[in-house]
Amino acid sequence: MAAATATPLVIAVDGPAASGKGTLARRLAAHYGLAYLDTGSLYRATALAVMLAGGDPADEAAAVHAAQALDPARFTDEQLRTPGASEAASKVAAIPAVRTALLDLQRTVTSKLPGAVLDGRDIGTVVCPDADAKLFITAAPETRAQRRHLEHAGRGEDISYEEVLADIRRRDERDSGRAVAPLVPAADAHLLDTTELGIEAAFQAALDLIEGVLRERGRSA
Ligand code: DC
Repeated sequence: MAAATATPLVIAVDGPAASGKGTLARRLAAHYGLAYLDTGSLYRATALAVMLAGGDPADEAAAVHAAQALDPARFTDEQLRTPGASEAASKVAAIPAVRTALLDLQRTVTSKLPGAVLDGRDIGTVVCPDADAKLFITAAPETRAQRRHLEHAGRGEDISYEEVLADIRRRDERDSGRAVAPLVPAADAHLLDTTELGIEAAFQAALDLIEGVLRERGRSA
């Protein structure tokens, strides 16, 4: 269980699309008894809100308005996880004022005891630079595309592996190339490559890394 400590325990889990970071972050939160926030869902919900209002996710004014008025619970996971929402989310995420508008929402979660696990792209670098432990999860694009393709197939969505791979490469480029809060590991992040790892092995590796960091910092969880 998490912490009889006075300050919230914060774990940052960053990485590209379908690297396994969401699954790992959710499991880490359950393991340590912490809150969990999928920050990508905030960008996805912002993008969907713009599109439902008939706007263009790349339009700064519309996207900022949607981010400022965001109700994170408005959409179901199913609505948030479509390829269209993924593509539109990476467009709103490239707008600096959208990122600023979503910062408070993310930091509120980390200010409450016992703490939280957040997953995203810039958690260790921008949202929670003082996180107690930071992981950066990677995997080969082909492996990530296979995983995403299976997810889509599981939901009965008809999209080819090649389309998913192209989509992942396009989003990687946009997420890594943007000027503000690009997808890069924090200097003090621990890298974990899940290309060859199943869920259990990846979880164990993540846990080992975090336990090591917390021990080094004299921080109990
Ligand atoms: O993790 P995801 O696929 O649900 O993220 C959706 C989009 O939002 C993705 O293009 C990257 C962006 N994102 C971001 O820029 N910063 C975050 N902290 C989380 C997601």
